[in-house]
Amino acid sequence: MAVLGIESSAHTFGVGIVGHGKVLANEKSMYRITNKGMIPAEVAEFHVENASSTIESALKAGGIDIGEITCIGYTRGPGLGPCLQVGQLSAKALALRLNVPIVPVNHGLAHIEITKHMMHMKDPLALYVSGGNSQILKFDRASHRYKVLGETFDMGIGNMLDSFARKLGLSHAWGSEVEKLARRGEYVKLPYTVKGMDFSFTGLLTRSSELVGRAGAEDLCFSVQETSFAMLCEAAERALLLTKSRELCVCGGVAQNSRLAEMLGNVADDNKARFARAPNEYNADNGAMIALVAEKMLEKGQDVRPDECDFKQKYRVDEAVFYA
Ligand code: FE2
Repeated sequence: MAVLGIESSAHTFGVGIVGHGKVLANEKSMYRITNKGMIPAEVAEFHVENASSTIESALKAGGIDIGEITCIGYTRGPGLGPCLQVGQLSAKALALRLNVPIVPVNHGLAHIEITKHMMHMKDPLALYVSGGNSQILKFDRASHRYKVLGETFDMGIGNMLDSFARKLGLSHAWGSEVEKLARRGEYVKLPYTVKGMDFSFTGLLTRSSELVGRAGAEDLCFSVQETSFAMLCEAAERALLLTKSRELCVCGGVAQNSRLAEMLGNVADDNKARFARAPNEYNADNGAMIALVAEKMLEKGQDVRPDECDFKQKYRVDEAVFYA
């Protein structure tokens, strides 16, 4: 059994192959974002141009013949409509050609599930942090869905960090550039907004942007990170106490930030919980996480007919029923 998963919710066209829970291939083509940001139609065009070659690379990397693929998974949402559509149509075409089942997968759920799988966690409290999302989640066995315990009132932390980095004039790889500069900074007071287990980043972005040119870049990077990460830690700690969870994980693009991992590790230690994050390859958008979840969902009969498969830009993680 080999499941091929396609991820195309944003700038990455990822193709992963999984067999019996083992990642056999995880290839990707990435659209390079400029200071204009992401223009969905342009990114979708990039995905169209790179879909076939990325699928071929994954098959080659896994040493698998296309005829051995027994199921196709794809990201149903959330994400940019035109980009999601390229993945959905590629998945549908492949499933029809190979006459195999097709499984639509929620992107956020896939980030959490691959982290659980890779890090051998049973039932963690999950902090999902990416460009467009920032949520604290816990699986609810009664409803077979992730419950959102806390989330951002406005923007995702990744978009906040990227927007701030552009205000600073950093050229690309914004989040990781902020992380590098932050290592040498000192603290400047910035707005801190946590309401229970929810949080907000716009005030922090506005104030830190106003201070560009008036405070040092390194100090601002340090302070933006410390303030926003402390907000996430406070909310996560409250959720840990509420759920009495013994495991805490972080996933999504911003989970690649080492300072955030360090701070969350301290929160977990203080609360006698085990902290883990997956290797960076699986926190960045990737096809393997989609293949992994598709394999689990297929086992529970959660596949759909090719004519039923669709995509949904605002597909919240708490809408996704998951029987694994
Ligand atoms: Fe993601």
